[in-house]
Parts: sequence; structure tokens; C-alpha cells
Amino acid sequence: MNRRSLLKNLSITFGSTLVSTEVIAKLAEDTYSYDIPTPSLHQSVAKPITVITLGAGSRGTVYGNYAAAFPDQLKVIGVAEPNTFRNDRYAKKHQIADTHRFNTWEDVFKQPKLADAVIISMPDDLHYEPCMKALSMGYDILLEKPIAPTEKECRDILALAKKTGRIVAVCHVLRYAPYFVKMKELIAKGAIGEVISIQHFEPIEHTHMAHSYVRGNWHNSKTTTPIILAKSCHDLDIIKWVINKRSQKIVAMGDLKWFRKENAPQGSTARCTDGCAVERTCPYSAIKEYIDRNSRTFVLDIPENVNDRKAAIREKLETTNYGRCVYRMENDQPDHYVTSIQFEDSVTANFSMEAFTAYHGRRTRIMGSMGDLVGDMTELVHHDFITRKETKFIPKAEDVEGYKNSGHGGGDWMLVRDFVQAVSQRDPSLLTSTIDDSIESHIMGFMAEKSRKEGKVMAVKL
Ligand SMILES: NC(=O)c1ccc[n+]([C@@H]2O[C@H](COP(=O)([O-])OP(=O)(O)OC[C@H]3O[C@@H](n4cnc5c(N)ncnc54)[C@H](O)[C@@H]3O)[C@@H](O)[C@H]2O)c1
Repeated sequence: MNRRSLLKNLSITFGSTLVSTEVIAKLAEDTYSYDIPTPSLHQSVAKPITVITLGAGSRGTVYGNYAAAFPDQLKVIGVAEPNTFRNDRYAKKHQIADTHRFNTWEDVFKQPKLADAVIISMPDDLHYEPCMKALSMGYDILLEKPIAPTEKECRDILALAKKTGRIVAVCHVLRYAPYFVKMKELIAKGAIGEVISIQHFEPIEHTHMAHSYVRGNWHNSKTTTPIILAKSCHDLDIIKWVINKRSQKIVAMGDLKWFRKENAPQGSTARCTDGCAVERTCPYSAIKEYIDRNSRTFVLDIPENVNDRKAAIREKLETTNYGRCVYRMENDQPDHYVTSIQFEDSVTANFSMEAFTAYHGRRTRIMGSMGDLVGDMTELVHHDFITRKETKFIPKAEDVEGYKNSGHGGGDWMLVRDFVQAVSQRDPSLLTSTIDDSIESHIMGFMAEKSRKEGKVMAVKL
């Protein structure tokens, strides 16, 4: 028996009620390491749930990896992906029959229903139509966020999901991360009394901003979704979910200040590989990011067995957006964005998304009448105003058995685990991010963007 199950079996209880219910190990005085026990309603899965992945890029790969790790729970039996490199790689990994390999999502739905569910992990503008089609054909759906690019489309999907009775899990993966699960549990237990206000901060990290929102897939809000949805619908969602209050009003400000043509340094060129005179001193150099640091190269589709990896990456920098100067893109996503939200019961929240940080990892402070919580996703510190005691909670997301390498603080795979349970038991309540539950934070996002553009305070109406 390992340490984890030993602790579980002994039902060890430490001190106060705040730390008595979970599988927990004490590391030092008032510092606890914990993971979240498997929900009691989970059952062994009689037959693996079968899925077809629509979009075998980064996210499709993450969810597919769960199936590869837990074949008794989930089996990928089909893929739709126009990029042949990705289609081949995915089909090989999941041993998908040629008859179930498709070029595009439309081809899947020309066939009779082939699987229990589909994973929709295509670009933001390819969520709505496939989701509506999948629902009408009786598929359950693991749907990447954002649900869809417009409020009307989100509401259409919700209405059809209700009408058809299918399960739609929105990939609000933070809701499944042990760190945020603990935060919500502490608040529900009254650990800080009445919640009064929240400060939530998402530091994107400057090179991540350049990669995804200046050069990458989400650089143009009109062809994808505004950054408040593309990046920060997670944040609006997690604030709302953790405090369990309805949002009432939202106001937002923010702009694209730095990654603009007028800020291009003298001597810079269209691509970092064009002999740019300032490339070595530019913090956003694509050569430094993708070749020197070998960072974020997954998007470049470099074969594993390539002879000269650096040359192969350089060739991609010479031909794709990932090698272009950050000051000369067709980008329009704000690089700083602040939002204030009024919730019911006079609770207020401030949220700030920032591109220009050296670090990433969401930071949250929640202020209550009897205490406060301060966390950075690696630890959560509770202060009790009555006892003046400080207690530290450290999530064991990285070493939860069987969930190694799962992203978003452990949330990515925990979501898939719960999705499998919900589909196999035909019970959406086993999910914490059903479409019904996720629509509000999307409306908050649409209203924030309207507020930012029109300079008005917007009501959030469900
Ligand atoms: N939950 C999260 O935390 C999270 C994180 C990142 C991205 N996302 C969302 O997940 C989705 C996918 O993002 P990603 O990073 O995996 O992007 P990606 O570009 O890596 O993957 C998308 C894939 O869809 C494929 N595709 C395009 N058109 C298609 C079609 N007609 N039929 C089938 N496949 C098609 C593309 O070729 C690509 O491989 C986006 O909506 C994104 O906003 C969510």
C-alpha cells in the first residue's frame, strides 16, 4: 500500500475542520499537502466511452493522451483533421482505422453515428456548427472553450443541448484543478466568513502573449474571439464558480498598447530571420524563443525523427506567422485588460489580464469578513482573523496518481475523467462545467468586451 492510500484508509484528521475531510499529508506546522479524493459517485466504467476527435492540435492531443493512459475508460476511434502531419500522428497514436480518419469535421457527420461522443478541439470559429450537428445526431460532447464566438450561438447550443438531453462538457478545466477545488471548498465551509471582494490576476507572460495572441492562432479577435473569451473566459468563470454568486454588472477597459507597427525598433525586419538588426536584443525574438530555447515548438509540427531540428524550426520561422516581427502582425488583441464585476450580495471583483510579466500562473486574493485567502496556484494561504492563524494548502496536482503531466494544475485530465463518468452513467451532474453552468461566464465575457468597446457599464442578463 502506498502512502496515498495509507492516508486515505486511516482517514487521518488534522486539527481544524478546514483540513479534516480530504486526503492530506502534513508537511510542516500548519502546511498541508492534499489531493482531491475521487468523487464517491464515480463507478468503474463497464465499457470504454468511444470518441471522435475533431481537431488533433494541442488540445485534441491533451485529451487524446488521457485515452492513451486510461484505455479502459476512453477510446479514440476516429479523428477529423485537415493537417496531414497531425492526422497521421494522431491516427498512429490511437490506432485509428483508415475508415475513421477524416479530413474535416463535416465528413464525420456524413456518416451514421460512429461513437458515443465527440471532442470539439478545433479553432474558436469551428465550435458552433459542429456542436449543433453533433447534438442533432445524438453525440455527447467535450467542447473546448469558448463555447462559441457570439452570445446567440452559445444560447443556441444550450437550447439544443437541453432539447436533445445530450451531455455537453465545456472545457473550463480550472474548475477541476485541485487548487481551485480547494479554494471553493474553503469558501463554502465559511473559512473566511462572508465573501466581500476578490482580486484576480492573470499574468500571461510576455513570450506566451507574443506566441499566442500576437503571432499565433488568436492574434485577430475578428477571426477567433476577443481575448477576454479566448484567454480569460477561464478567469471570469473561475471567479464566479469559486464564490458561487450570480454576476450582475461588468465594466472593462484595456487596449493594444505595445505590439503595434509604430513601436517597431529601427533596423527591425518583417521576420526575425530576415537579418533583423535588433534580433539579439529583442525579448520577443522568434529565434530566441523557438530555436535557442526550443520553447512552444509543438505548434510547428516538427517530425520527431528530423535530422536537423534547428534547421527545420528555422524553415518554419521563415514561412509561418511564428517567425514574423511582433510589431508587424495583423494583431488586434489587447495586451492589458482590466475588468470590474458586481456580483449579488454586494460582492465585487477586480480582474486584470496582463501580457507584460516575466511569469505566469494565476494569482487570487479573496477577502472575507472573518479571514482571507491568498494563492498563486502553487499554494493557497488561509488567514483566520479570529485565531490569527495561517494555514497553507499545497495541491498535489503534479503527483496525483495516474494524472502526471496533466495541464492546468491537473484540471485537464480531471475534466476528462469526470466527462467519462458523466457519459457512462448518463448523469451530467457528475460534471462541474456543464453547458448550463458555463453560459454565465461567457455572457460576462461578451458584456465585458461590449463595455470595453462602448465605454459603458453592462448588465449581465442570463
Ligand atoms: N481549455 C483550455 O484551457 C484551452 C487552452 C488552449 C486552447 N483552447 C481552445 O481549444 C481549441 C483548440 O485550440 P488548440 O490550441 O488545440 O489549437 P490548434 O490549432 O493546436 O488545434 C486546432 C486543430 O483543429 C484543426 N482544424 C482546423 N479546421 C478543421 C476542420 N475543418 N476539421 C477538423 N479539424 C480542423 C487544425 O488543423 C488544428 O490542428 C480552441 O477553441 C482554443 O481556444 C482551450
